[in-house]
Amino acid sequence: MRFDLITLFPAMFDPIRDLGVTGRAHRQGIWQLHPWNPRDFTQDAHRTVDDRPYGGGPGMVMMVEPLRQAVAAARQARGSAQGSAPVVLFTPTGRRFDQDVAQSLSEGEGAILVCGRYEGIDQRFIDREVDIELSLGDFVLSGGEIPAMALMDAVVRLLPGVLNDADSARFDSFNGALSGLLDSPHYTRPEIHEGESVPAELLSGHHAQIALWRRRQSLALTAERRPDLIERARSQGWLTSDDERWLAGLPGGRC
Ligand SMILES: C[S@@+](CC[C@H](N)C(=O)[O-])C[C@H]1O[C@@H](n2cnc3c(N)ncnc32)[C@H](O)[C@@H]1O
Repeated sequence: MRFDLITLFPAMFDPIRDLGVTGRAHRQGIWQLHPWNPRDFTQDAHRTVDDRPYGGGPGMVMMVEPLRQAVAAARQARGSAQGSAPVVLFTPTGRRFDQDVAQSLSEGEGAILVCGRYEGIDQRFIDREVDIELSLGDFVLSGGEIPAMALMDAVVRLLPGVLNDADSARFDSFNGALSGLLDSPHYTRPEIHEGESVPAELLSGHHAQIALWRRRQSLALTAERRPDLIERARSQGWLTSDDERWLAGLPGGRC
């Protein structure tokens, strides 16, 4: 899988390329990262990529042309075989990035990721070049680089061969094997820490009992923190009658 990054700060991506799960997968050639700096597509001595906003107001706006040329160079480098990769712009005004988007991107050929800076980007670039606008959440960052890293990490860990245990991603929060619910709590050694023991079910060695405990913890946590995910699982028919009985018995009743 190939990611092209349109960014004024290519060095910010060195850690995700070199370290941890994504670093190992990059060394194995499972994914590639190609940064393109819009400053390399300017004509003036100062390598200007921004200008003052029409209509006045604070801050600067990224100009169309350096971005457009950077995207064109990325498209050309990808070649026709990978022409269907979407151009993604990170912006607080976009659709919220979530596991469904990550899953769908993991089944494709990668993407051209545009990282905004300053007050934002000239709308004419967005109208002409961008396929999807994504937000990392309801807060404002200084640039799109951190959202781009979040997206690449979430997508790359779903690619075959990236995680040591292939089942690991399937049993993460929001994934299919968990009916889109939140993950249950985890414990490791020591068995007793400062007088507090690991839940007995996890020590039982009884697979069905462990699975039931995890399912119920997952349901309880999701009902408490993300009732919208319970509703979604219910509407998709992912909850069993046993799940519903357990939810109905929780403090506050059926979620
Ligand atoms: C300072 S922000 C601009 C915010 C913009 N004026 C607004 O209020 O929506 C600069 C850049 O950071 C990125 N950015 C900031 N917050 C983001 C978020 N929550 N999700 C995705 N990208 C974000 C975008 O690429 C944006 O163009």
